[in-house]
Amino acid sequence: LKGISIAIDGPAAAGKSTIAKKIAQKLNYTYIDTGAMYRALTYKAICNDINIKSDHDLSKLLQETDIILKPVNGSQAVWIDGVDRSEEIRSQKVTANVSMVATHANVREMMVGKQRELANGTGVVMDGRDIGTAVLPNAELKIFMTASVEERAVRRFNENESRGIHIPLDQLKREIEKRDQSDSERTVSPLKMADDAVLVDTTSLSVNEVVDKVILLAEERV
Ligand code: C5P
Repeated sequence: LKGISIAIDGPAAAGKSTIAKKIAQKLNYTYIDTGAMYRALTYKAICNDINIKSDHDLSKLLQETDIILKPVNGSQAVWIDGVDRSEEIRSQKVTANVSMVATHANVREMMVGKQRELANGTGVVMDGRDIGTAVLPNAELKIFMTASVEERAVRRFNENESRGIHIPLDQLKREIEKRDQSDSERTVSPLKMADDAVLVDTTSLSVNEVVDKVILLAEERV
């Protein structure tokens, strides 16, 4: 199979990374979770007491930060300055602040540069918010993955519970809505369906149904 680029964008907790991981595994492609990169910078900013409203301060911090995405049995670990921070970047505190970090033009420009490098010359499944619109505008397949906000909150709730994290459902729903609003309303590369993307509503589909659907679309484009 020739290596194509598959871009998967969509709102928070729509199942993008779950699906992207499985597709990458099936096609033997590289999986790149771009949200993890914004989370990594957010984590480091919080640890170092950096003002997340300052593009300048964050860009400087990013320049000094070594973020490595490492493939580990079908998933992706995130190493920051030589330490595995895969767990830490999923904390509530990081989740609550990452959308602010992601609003900044210089931060985004640096991130997009890194993301293009990672995708260069290899079959890739990349998930995020601006992959089809900004990072890989020539991707052979673009998916815009959505689900109702209720369904997304329930999925995040179940995922949390299975990891022993207890957060009320209505709180999760509010947080998801807030993050979607910020991601959709920012000036630089807002969350938006690319004109040539395929809309996949996963509300009433199983993970395997979505995977099969995307694989079929990919095979048409190889
Ligand atoms: O995908 P995930 O939910 O981990 O992304 C965390 C946040 O990172 C998003 O809510 C968004 O603010 C930002 N992000 C982005 N562009 C991307 C990926 C993530 O702005 N390509």
